[in-house]
Amino acid sequence: MKSIGEFLLLAALSRYRNFREERWIKKRYYCHFLFQRADTLLKQSYCKQSPYKISKQHFLSRGAQDVHVYGETPLSTWEYILGKCGIHAGDCLYDLGCGTGRGVFFVSAYFGCRAVGVDFISSFIHKAKEIQRQIPQTSLHFVHGDITTCDLSEASVIYLYGTCLDDSTIEALSRRFSSLKKGVKVITVSYPLSDYLLDNPFAVKEVFSAKYAWGEAEVFYQEKVR
Ligand SMILES: C[S@@+](CC[C@H](N)C(=O)[O-])C[C@H]1O[C@@H](n2cnc3c(N)ncnc32)[C@H](O)[C@@H]1O
Repeated sequence: MKSIGEFLLLAALSRYRNFREERWIKKRYYCHFLFQRADTLLKQSYCKQSPYKISKQHFLSRGAQDVHVYGETPLSTWEYILGKCGIHAGDCLYDLGCGTGRGVFFVSAYFGCRAVGVDFISSFIHKAKEIQRQIPQTSLHFVHGDITTCDLSEASVIYLYGTCLDDSTIEALSRRFSSLKKGVKVITVSYPLSDYLLDNPFAVKEVFSAKYAWGEAEVFYQEKVR
């Protein structure tokens, strides 16, 4: 159990990290005009209700026990992870559980590849589609649906930041990943697929730590080898 002092310190640290990240984003990524436009529109569309609140309401309405499960991958971390995995313009990245889709807009603008975001919170997908309509980009796609059943046939790279997913969901996803074509890259945060698969067709290419709002996490870059 953390003391109030520890909580306040953690909150202050997280705000400071966020402030630095946002300053970095403007300096480094806003030169991509389409991304700058999309990101500005995204911020406007969440100024009345934050994604954290929207996600909390969604999980409350489903009677979930843990409702504070929303989080976002910092854009500098997206750049770091996908740079390590050697993503290129010919790839198609799926962000499974894309939240607001900020990462999807970023990946498609910065790496020039196709990017698809899937989430079951309708308001996230509705807002992302509305922004996409205002900055037409054919290399983007948003799907309202469940990540355990959505079509993954187009994917060459999959990103799963689902540290709060329950074991049965991760198991179902891992089984689905087993039927992907050879060569597909799957990036998971905090756990490797081998924790959930008995007959594991994925080889771990690299394990490294990356920055998230709450601290460092282990990232597993895996590739389907058979
Ligand atoms: C931790 S957030 C990650 C957001 C984004 N991928 C990022 O890294 O910035 C996880 C997201 O997964 C979504 N999610 C969780 N379970 C899901 C499911 N079974 N189907 C679709 N979306 C799901 C949540 O709504 C939430 O937006």
